[in-house]
Amino acid sequence: MTALITGASDGIGKAFAYELAKKQYNLILIARREELLSKIKSSLEKEYNISVNYYSLDLTTQINEFCQIIRDNKPDILINSAGFGRPGLFVDLDFACHAEMLSVHIEAVVKSNYEALKYMREKKEGMIINISSLAGLILGKGYTMYGSTKHFIADFSQRLAFEARKDNVYIQALCPGFTYTGFHDTEYYPHFDRSKYPKFLWQSPESVTQESLKKYKTPLLIPRTLNRFIYILSQTLLFKYIIAKIMKSSKFV
Ligand SMILES: NC(=O)c1ccc[n+]([C@@H]2O[C@H](COP(=O)([O-])OP(=O)(O)OC[C@H]3O[C@@H](n4cnc5c(N)ncnc54)[C@H](OP(=O)(O)O)[C@@H]3O)[C@@H](O)[C@H]2O)c1
Repeated sequence: MTALITGASDGIGKAFAYELAKKQYNLILIARREELLSKIKSSLEKEYNISVNYYSLDLTTQINEFCQIIRDNKPDILINSAGFGRPGLFVDLDFACHAEMLSVHIEAVVKSNYEALKYMREKKEGMIINISSLAGLILGKGYTMYGSTKHFIADFSQRLAFEARKDNVYIQALCPGFTYTGFHDTEYYPHFDRSKYPKFLWQSPESVTQESLKKYKTPLLIPRTLNRFIYILSQTLLFKYIIAKIMKSSKFV
């Protein structure tokens, strides 16, 4: 059995690689940082006696290569974890940032799901996990592209899950909250300070991936009870009322 994981050089994707290696899956890992992928390959092959291949690909420009790898290898499990955040007001950021996010979060996810579903449907077996985010389910300011692309992943995955269920193919939108990974250490978060956020809000990438795999039949998975509670609160009338008040507080005409 084989699993293909994007965003496998770090964080949640890397944690998925270790979880699936424990379950004796052979792995195909994709990300840009080749030296990290190479280290993970050596460590996993040595520790779990499985075969690991990796490809250094940039999913802003190499989605065709990514799809070809899926067609050639037909993995039993596809996990789309590659992703990044760029805080800031939509119009303040370069449009190039937005275009990159559309490629990695939307084009790569949609095309890879299409490629995988074609053979999974024939085989009547398969599993896809697309990493969305709790931020994609909650309205907020300063992460318009991140939130809306992640919202798309959540909606798209759930709709596909309904279509694919009859073919014994399981699709999950995984929506983690704050997770200890490299996500907030990139150049786009130069001033991010984890200590400003209460510790209880954070969880480990291992706990995210373990819950995801355990509940792989759940089309929309928000890991952790606390995050599910935050999501429910965000959908209440009070929260929507506060957002509506903020929206109304400035004048256009
Ligand atoms: N951490 C959180 O708090 C959190 C919360 C909710 C959702 N998420 C989501 O979880 C997913 C994984 O993020 P993470 O938290 O594990 O962060 P991370 O540690 O920064 O990992 C992100 C992964 O995506 C890869 N990646 C980024 N841009 C890429 C590109 N253009 N081409 C190919 N690979 C690319 C990175 O690899 P290279 O740099 O080597 O290419 C890395 O392996 C993301 O989709 C993120 O939106 C994270």
